[in-house]
Amino acid sequence: MFDPVDQLSQPVTFPFSGRTAKNRFLKSAMSERLATFSPFDPCRRGQPTEELVRLYETWAKGDIGIIVTGNIQIKKDHLEATGNAIIDKNLPSVFLQEWTEVARAAKSQGSLVIGQLNHPGRQVSINIQPYPEAPSDVEQPSTGGLLFGRPTPLTKDGIKDIVDRFAFAASILHEAGFDGVQLHAAHGYLLSQFLAKRTNLRTDEYGGSLVNRAQILLEIIAAIREAVQSPSFIISVKLNSHDEGFCIEESITVAKLLEDAGVDFIEVSGGAYEQITRSSQEKSYTVKTREGYFVEYAELLRSHLKLSKVVATGGFQTSQGMADAISRGAADIIGLARPLTAEPLLVRDILRGETKQAKGDKFPESPMLRFVASAAQMAEIGNGQDITDFDNEFQVARLIAKMQKEIPVAISEALFS
Ligand SMILES: Cc1cc2nc3c(=O)[nH]c(=O)nc-3n(C[C@H](O)[C@H](O)[C@H](O)COP(=O)(O)O)c2cc1C
Repeated sequence: MFDPVDQLSQPVTFPFSGRTAKNRFLKSAMSERLATFSPFDPCRRGQPTEELVRLYETWAKGDIGIIVTGNIQIKKDHLEATGNAIIDKNLPSVFLQEWTEVARAAKSQGSLVIGQLNHPGRQVSINIQPYPEAPSDVEQPSTGGLLFGRPTPLTKDGIKDIVDRFAFAASILHEAGFDGVQLHAAHGYLLSQFLAKRTNLRTDEYGGSLVNRAQILLEIIAAIREAVQSPSFIISVKLNSHDEGFCIEESITVAKLLEDAGVDFIEVSGGAYEQITRSSQEKSYTVKTREGYFVEYAELLRSHLKLSKVVATGGFQTSQGMADAISRGAADIIGLARPLTAEPLLVRDILRGETKQAKGDKFPESPMLRFVASAAQMAEIGNGQDITDFDNEFQVARLIAKMQKEIPVAISEALFS
């Protein structure tokens, strides 16, 4: 019998940047929604706040090998949600000082810090952007009480602008002291819209064959290398195991292209807005008998890669389940999201042998509701408040009542139905 703590505390070195993470844990991206937001003036949006810095200071104390930020938007009026952090060359400030503070906080105990960059494409609420831009004019169906505008297909100049914006944002994060970036090509946002045949109907060099559909991703990676000029800067990609119009074999082929492009690690995930109201984030390619939603896919992917590391994220609860995934060769690194909003110091406690699993969770079975609840816990940490204990029925009921008062009726109907 192997010791889970021993497995999980091993350092891991990335093949291209040569950087080493101190252990096998990664805090997966979670949209913190703790930046400034003005509904009317896009120029007063996206500035990281003190609350965001405090949140990362707390996670740093949790001894996590790699900390990935929530998705940072590259365009001030194309957001995943209000309160997103933004790095946009057309804003009056790129918030270099604030990002330097976030990097300092997240790295204060030796973690590597990676900024996740994103563009929502068609998956932007109509309240934020009635005129989305996407690979093609395939509309996002309304989901979870959210409505979406019909997207305008991006012109080639528009694509070039987006490539430049990703590279610009990466260069700012590099200057601020971040160790790397992660491109969000999962969960139905712009880059995964390009990858999936169903949302990419283009007939130019960005559509059609899989290599063409992956072209924007590869151009962004090349542009980041050009803009950052540092071989030790980590580039990572978060990729869905599959989507409608993007099958597992295609996902593996894209991962191999990413490896050829020098991507240090690929984080595997699944799902998109369209599926979020279903009863579980688990999808068809998941394991029911073992912990970790995407472990089988991660194992398959890992067998096709020679250098890039694989991070399996989703559904991990116990140190035994996490160590099993590492020891059987399914993943190099374990990604955790929701457990770290409930217990920001969980990794430290596991590594010290003080606990073997995440706390119990008495939240009702609704992925969307659980999503908002985790965001509420991040706000509590950022504000220096006690974290609502999801193992305590009274505290769960109190938070649900508060959320019902605060979130718009349409969303709340979808959440609580
Ligand atoms: C509140 C919340 C916000 C999230 N925001 C992001 C995000 O910005 N980018 C991303 O790639 N995934 C995001 N995710 C998905 C997580 O990174 C992760 O893939 C998912 O929660 C499954 O991991 P878990 O079972 O450990 O929570 C978010 C999840 C939650 C709960």
